[in-house]
Amino acid sequence: MDHNQVRRYWDGNADVWTQLSRAGYDVYRDYLNTPAFLEMLPDVDGLSGLDIGCGEGHNTRLVAQRGAHMTAIDISARFVRHARDYAGRDAPPIRYQVASAVELPFPGSLFDFATGFMSFMDIPETGQVLAEVHRVLKPGGFVQFSIIHPCFNPPHRRNLRDEHGVTYAIEVGDYYRNLDGDIVEGFFGAAPPEVTEGLRKFQLPRFTRILSQWLNLLIESGLVLERVEEPRPSDETVRACPEVQDAQVVSYFLHIRARKPVWFHS
Ligand SMILES: C[S@@+](CC[C@H](N)C(=O)[O-])C[C@H]1O[C@@H](n2cnc3c(N)ncnc32)[C@H](O)[C@@H]1O
Repeated sequence: MDHNQVRRYWDGNADVWTQLSRAGYDVYRDYLNTPAFLEMLPDVDGLSGLDIGCGEGHNTRLVAQRGAHMTAIDISARFVRHARDYAGRDAPPIRYQVASAVELPFPGSLFDFATGFMSFMDIPETGQVLAEVHRVLKPGGFVQFSIIHPCFNPPHRRNLRDEHGVTYAIEVGDYYRNLDGDIVEGFFGAAPPEVTEGLRKFQLPRFTRILSQWLNLLIESGLVLERVEEPRPSDETVRACPEVQDAQVVSYFLHIRARKPVWFHS
């Protein structure tokens, strides 16, 4: 499966994804992943940024609220429409564009930084995405992205729970098998059946790479690894949102920041 084939799945997911995430059911994003990502993000006030795979724009808006001048792209026209519609309300100004991360429609060395919130793992041509990121960043610019943790969410994963339903271990397997667009169906786990009844299930094309493949792709892109985080929810967060308790056992997400060297000249 290539990025153009991926597009139609995300177009099909966009309406229900936007509806459910704006209703608060993307709890891993809201309670764990995005707060940790923003804590790791350097000061972007006054910088020009590109958000890649912006979806309905929730995280782009949060970065823009930190004073960055944001451009955002997504391969799904429906997601971009939802992001623009929201922009009509109370959002900071963001330039949205329908485009693929594999062929960014921008000249080289344009942006101070780029972000990718849970999108790079959904694009089969990962090496090309990183090459494009390298191209559009100014020398000295950085990219920060989050992905599903390759080690703890490989093709086989099962929560092992005690008698109270508390996850105490995660069973993982099939680590070395690279999924190539296998379709996973479902909703955000926190959305109850009465909310999802009658809605079209997400169809998510899944691509997996093992940790060394991710790191080697990054090294081959010329970007220099700068910071890595594996966010863990605090006890207080789990009290506020018990659904994310299993992310205290092993890391659900991997956050990476890498920089284009200042001595690079295109
Ligand atoms: C898991 S969603 C994350 C959306 C958003 N960043 C967020 O955090 O809510 C993955 C996004 O990547 C987008 N995407 C997939 N392939 C893409 C590509 N080749 N170029 C740009 N965006 C892509 C999808 O349309 C979808 O909006």
